[in-house]
Amino acid sequence: MMLHAFTLLAAAAVARAETADKVPRAAPSGTAAWAAAHSSAAAALAKMSQQDKVNIVTGIGWDKGPCVGNTAAISSINYPQLCLQDGPLGIRFGTGITAFTPGIQAASTWDIDLIRQRGEYLGAEAKGTGVHVLLGPVAGALGKIPHGGRNWEGFGVDPYLAGIAMAETIEGIQSAGVQACAKHYIVNEQELNRETLSSNVDDRSMHELYLWPFADAVHSNVASVMCSYNKINGSWACENDHTQNGLLKKELGFQGYVVSDWNAQHTTNGAANNGMDMTMPGSDYNGRNVLWGPQLNSAVNSNQVSKTRLDDMAKRILAAWYLLGQNAGYPAINIGANVQGNHKENVRAVARDGIVLLKNDGAVLPLKKPSKIALVGSAAVVNPQGMNSCVDKGCNTGALGMGWGSGSVNYPYFVAPYDALKTRAQADGTTLSLQSSDSTSGVSGVASGADVAIVVITADSGEGYITVDGNVGDRQNLDPWHNGNQLVQAVAAANKNTIVVVHSTGPIVLETILATAGVKAVVWAGLPSQENGNALVDILYGLTSPSGKLVYSIAKRAEDYGTAVIKGDDTFKEGLFVDYRHFDNAKIEPRYEFGFGLSYTNFTYTALKITPTAAATAGPATGATIPGGPADLWETIATVTAVITNSGAVTGAEVPQLYLTLPSAAPSTPPKQLRGFAKLKLEPGASGTATFNLRRRDLSYWDTGRQQWVVPAGAFGVAVGASSRDVRLTGSLEI
Ligand code: NOJ
Repeated sequence: MMLHAFTLLAAAAVARAETADKVPRAAPSGTAAWAAAHSSAAAALAKMSQQDKVNIVTGIGWDKGPCVGNTAAISSINYPQLCLQDGPLGIRFGTGITAFTPGIQAASTWDIDLIRQRGEYLGAEAKGTGVHVLLGPVAGALGKIPHGGRNWEGFGVDPYLAGIAMAETIEGIQSAGVQACAKHYIVNEQELNRETLSSNVDDRSMHELYLWPFADAVHSNVASVMCSYNKINGSWACENDHTQNGLLKKELGFQGYVVSDWNAQHTTNGAANNGMDMTMPGSDYNGRNVLWGPQLNSAVNSNQVSKTRLDDMAKRILAAWYLLGQNAGYPAINIGANVQGNHKENVRAVARDGIVLLKNDGAVLPLKKPSKIALVGSAAVVNPQGMNSCVDKGCNTGALGMGWGSGSVNYPYFVAPYDALKTRAQADGTTLSLQSSDSTSGVSGVASGADVAIVVITADSGEGYITVDGNVGDRQNLDPWHNGNQLVQAVAAANKNTIVVVHSTGPIVLETILATAGVKAVVWAGLPSQENGNALVDILYGLTSPSGKLVYSIAKRAEDYGTAVIKGDDTFKEGLFVDYRHFDNAKIEPRYEFGFGLSYTNFTYTALKITPTAAATAGPATGATIPGGPADLWETIATVTAVITNSGAVTGAEVPQLYLTLPSAAPSTPPKQLRGFAKLKLEPGASGTATFNLRRRDLSYWDTGRQQWVVPAGAFGVAVGASSRDVRLTGSLEI
């Protein structure tokens, strides 16, 4: 019996390695697939006039077509009016779509299968609405600034985790025949002054932090990359020779095209000659300031931009279209199509498994048919003005499911905490009383006498073109909104079993809440989109044991992060020491560390095994360039396994994490860095093996002198544990 459970559940173990075996990955055949696509593109190019070429590299102008970005059709080669549409969590402006969970929630699951499925479903909805290019996923902002307005669109602050989530999402989207677009390239870390500031970043941090997840994107054959608004070391992202031609196209071997962020182009020739391949939307937001189109035509005619460069732009765009097979039978554009299918199941699973249980004193959770529950907070109910009443989600009224900006979509429906709790309470015969405001006066009447009081608080952020409660995209501080601290204090004063539920775009400082007597549990519910309440009830009642882990650290004080929104240019003075890399290095204790999350069961870790392969040698990666960089960088050169046992009483899932400490031959490197994870679903008493495949890149640092990825010689510290600080097994890998 137990053996049967073990077999079944071990098969469900989600390690990177196992997924790689299970799912046919596009990446290894990338070079050949691109070569075929480029040869089809070259044949098509031969039939095109210069004007045709200019037309497919230039957007037709803001607000001129059915999508947020459009180019002109070329009838001679049956090339359609290309539709580029936001965004990273679904089809923007769609009315028959799914509002998928934001990237940050997907990452918090640490579940490769769910992340992959989310990508596949995103791709299916894009294809069903006739969208050729889905403008996501996001790896910039990476999230080095905890206040950063758009961090929630991406996959958390660790480049390794973000890279794997980028790869799975892109392969998922593209498996549906849709072009993905990795954005925003690059070092676009804050909203304040994003269109004027320069991110002045050193070469090593660029490679090891910011470029890393884009390398995964390229390795997964992403069709397009969006250059960002900011400058990098003084030159605009969309006309930066080093980042576009040097890093992306040469070093990473990117075969697709670079599309500008909307209105991020500054000059006709500068963009053309420094690596940008498509301009969007083709004008400014007033329909003026057209920089390509006729201007590009004359620049080519006067040899300021070579014909070869124009051909290269057009060829890259056509190749991406062929690579995804969009030249045959692609559906017509219909943003209003109903494409939801059963995709809400993925939303619920991600919303649920991305919930992180931070505190659970006296096992107050899971709930066991309480006779009376009090529910408090404006975030417990759907926005009374309507779930989609704020343009691009630019308000924080009612329950929170996603941040605001171009990366938001319409909800098809919205289940708030109150809606789902009401259903469950009715089934259990529980009395549920609600205060759907954040008023502290009178709350004791609702909260006192209940078995438990659940108080829902939020913190929101988004894109800088919308200001909400004085937050110009980035958050002004790391406090809960709507006086959340005071609300929790008032509820906890009346009820000694207070459960705090946090819906937030990023970390908040929890010190006031944790110092409040009566706060027994903190449920970090993140951004659960349309399945907000259902996911919460799943966890509160233990229908599923919580298995999410933090994808950023929660500090005791905002200053502890060592990074903040900058007024002028950003010198990236923190270098490699971002989030847990900084907390570890500066010996600052966070409140809850990166990778942390409780469960309703317990897990034990045993039998660490470290097995290098013959290719585990010191020195640089020197292989031929494939999409993503030197081929040998992507080869597994050591495997680590550990046995995880569910030693508690209920079924649960654990995320064992592997952190590496590089030998001292690598100069000033963070004390430890995530280089592997797995997710194992285990019944009580069952064990499973976590397998971590370490690729050459996972053991390398960027040697700025040699301009190569180098595996340093010496002993690598291997730590496997339940978070970045809860290390359970240690060993060493000698190279
Ligand atoms: C600007 C945003 O930065 C980008 O993410 C988005 O895709 C475009 N606008 C188009 O809406």
